[in-house]
Amino acid sequence: MNDKQLVAQEAVNTVKQGMVIGLGTGSTANYFIEALAQRQNEENLQITTISSSIISYIKAKQSGLPILGIEQLSHLDLYVDGADEVSPDGTLLKGRGSDLVKEKILAKASQQFLVLVDQSKLVSHIGEKFPIPIEVMPFAWQLVKNNLEEIGGNAELRLNANKDNVAFTAHGSLVLDITFDADISSSELNEHLNELPGVVEHGIFINLASTILIGKDGKIEQKTMK
Ligand code: A5P
Repeated sequence: MNDKQLVAQEAVNTVKQGMVIGLGTGSTANYFIEALAQRQNEENLQITTISSSIISYIKAKQSGLPILGIEQLSHLDLYVDGADEVSPDGTLLKGRGSDLVKEKILAKASQQFLVLVDQSKLVSHIGEKFPIPIEVMPFAWQLVKNNLEEIGGNAELRLNANKDNVAFTAHGSLVLDITFDADISSSELNEHLNELPGVVEHGIFINLASTILIGKDGKIEQKTMK
């Protein structure tokens, strides 16, 4: 079992009868979905799930998990997802997979947001390893790009895998991937992006994680954030 599978299994062990559970997106979330389906079958667990993306919807459906649309959600006990980066204060970077809008909605709506990572995701500051993804309304991308460059960012419009067209998210937005030469904290950037017209959502997740499970060489470290 690798470290991502290890933390996914640990997360599944926290699931209780009757829970409504949000399913994240990515390889770690997939391990969680598989392990959750296995527990459901073995223990006849009565649970409901909500997916954060089409891909996790398909995975959940194929695994036999009962799944609701996000519009039918009245409360969410638990949201479980991976992350691209985790800083020492528990801030996350997410959205390399173009599904950050639903991911952030579910993370915010949940009673408990359980983050599953291996040690490769730990960074000293957000943006250390990856650019920060910003979903923008298609007609606003140039204005948002200009604005971010004015505050010291380098913004690149994300392209598709063949690099012959722009990449569209599940919601039809474009994505600007930004890096910063200038010294700007993730909380300053979070506030700036939250107030910038044309931005649909962005990949900085501040004060959302309840618990972070970190897989390190076959062991689990748990960080309780709130
Ligand atoms: C998806 O949009 C991201 O936020 C993922 O949560 C992130 O990329 C983690 O992926 P892995 O679990 O595959 O590392």
